[in-house]
Amino acid sequence: MGDVKINLNPKKPQLTPLSDKTKINLRYMVIEPFVSIHIHWEPKSGELIYEVEEPLMDEEDVKNLESIENSMREIVSINMLQEKRTIESLLDYVEKTAKLIISELGLEIEEEKFPKIIYYLYRDFIGLNEIEPMMQDCFIEDIECNGVGEPIYIVHRIFRNLKTNVKFTSIESLSSFVEKMAQKAGRYISYASPILDGSLPDGSRVNATYTKDITSKGPTFTIRKFTKTPWTPTQLLGFRELSPEMLAYFWILLEYQSNIMIIGGTASGKTTLLNAIAFFIPPEKRVVSIEDTRELNLPRENWLPSVVRTGLTSTGVGEVDMFSLLRGSFRQNPDYVIVGEVRGKEASVLFQGMASGHASISTMHADSVEAVIRRLETPPINLSPMLVNSLDAVAIMAHAIVKGHETRRLREISEVVQILPDGTATTNTPFIWDPATDTFRFQAKSAVFTKISRKYGINLRSLEDEFQKRAKYLRALFRYKILSYETVQKYINAYQKNPVGMLKKFGIY
Ligand SMILES: Nc1ncnc2c1ncn2[C@@H]1O[C@H](COP(=O)(O)OP(=O)(O)OP(=O)(O)O)[C@@H](O)[C@H]1O
Ligand SMILES: [Mg+2]
Repeated sequence: MGDVKINLNPKKPQLTPLSDKTKINLRYMVIEPFVSIHIHWEPKSGELIYEVEEPLMDEEDVKNLESIENSMREIVSINMLQEKRTIESLLDYVEKTAKLIISELGLEIEEEKFPKIIYYLYRDFIGLNEIEPMMQDCFIEDIECNGVGEPIYIVHRIFRNLKTNVKFTSIESLSSFVEKMAQKAGRYISYASPILDGSLPDGSRVNATYTKDITSKGPTFTIRKFTKTPWTPTQLLGFRELSPEMLAYFWILLEYQSNIMIIGGTASGKTTLLNAIAFFIPPEKRVVSIEDTRELNLPRENWLPSVVRTGLTSTGVGEVDMFSLLRGSFRQNPDYVIVGEVRGKEASVLFQGMASGHASISTMHADSVEAVIRRLETPPINLSPMLVNSLDAVAIMAHAIVKGHETRRLREISEVVQILPDGTATTNTPFIWDPATDTFRFQAKSAVFTKISRKYGINLRSLEDEFQKRAKYLRALFRYKILSYETVQKYINAYQKNPVGMLKKFGIY
């Protein structure tokens, strides 16, 4: 093993937002011992800055690094790097190759400078170049680049939108960076097909444009980062995103094959919520999921994930769109179909599937139930009101300001009670978030519970009773800090098998 060590998981501080932004001044490591992040107020521009602090390089260091990188590019292929599994074996390989090149080129590099050279080689060959420190920062949600010469902006979990000190200074470097991401995502990008939509090896979603138009600012990209394991229902309780009752409600609905749609604006947390409530789909049920880019990570075995394939070549040959995937998926006879994001004509296939008894969870970009129904009933989707009736519940995610801080809340859950032939809808809203008190209110009556009780011949009272017990159970799981992916899954499955035993365990029964 090589001598240079890199720790991609250094201990992170507990960060809390301050109301006085001008007082913010903190540092944390992201790539130990080489890179730290310095977040501070910049009086000159009057904004918070996210500063990536990498090892300093003098002119000679830069020249040396360039010569090593040039030789390295000739001998190292991406495929060779992708074969190596662990960060240690990759680093070891880079270090050995670098030593070889240094002696070959007869470069004189002082011993104490060697580690930082290795860091930059790691960054540029294994990592994502200038962006790598941000990729390793678990506080980051989004990374956005609007073109050459523009500072990169990020969305920070605690401090929200921040300008960074990183920018791409030439069209060439930015274009080749976008090419590199395309390669890592296994997608094809060119002037003829200039849009990249894919997932990076760590699961992050990337969207990029690839234009070299002189008048524009060149290529752009957005990276949506994902946590390695998805957030669990109890972790969302920890963020106060929703209430235990809301979760228990989803749990009941998912047990009885109801159709749920999660809506909200961009980055409001739709996919995150979808993934969390998927914990409640009984383990024996067959789930098929369909997405544009792979984001879901479901805690189950009986799951067939599929991803839309955009053309791997410039001709678009081999494209598989959401519409055909969805049609195919119903032939696999799933109990649950999960659609990452409903946009166009695939909605009709989804709703036909729902009408013929396959349950679904999906997300859509919209901010009210009325808007969803309107979108579904008008072109290009054009569903008949009868089909729209198969939708049971709509959950609305929203960005919210609580005590001066930006956060996310499940603003309301509405139920589609009836849609008349003329398209007008009657809805019922069992849950609503009250911004004044930052609490969630349950208004006692769920129309979907009534529907379930009729359809399955279950006494409504005992269904409501079960709902209350599950809410208590989830509250208890949270109180006992049962938060992680594996344990939450275990406790939810255990409850399905032996509810009384589990309730007793927490003293609820
Ligand atoms: N309750 C939450 N608290 C803190 N961060 C959250 C919460 N929910 C989601 N996030 C983070 O916000 C980002 C956006 O979430 P997500 O991808 O679920 O949103 P989305 O509504 O599906 O976005 P899009 O419209 O782009 O599909 C992610 O980085 C996610 O980790
Ligand atoms: Mg999403």
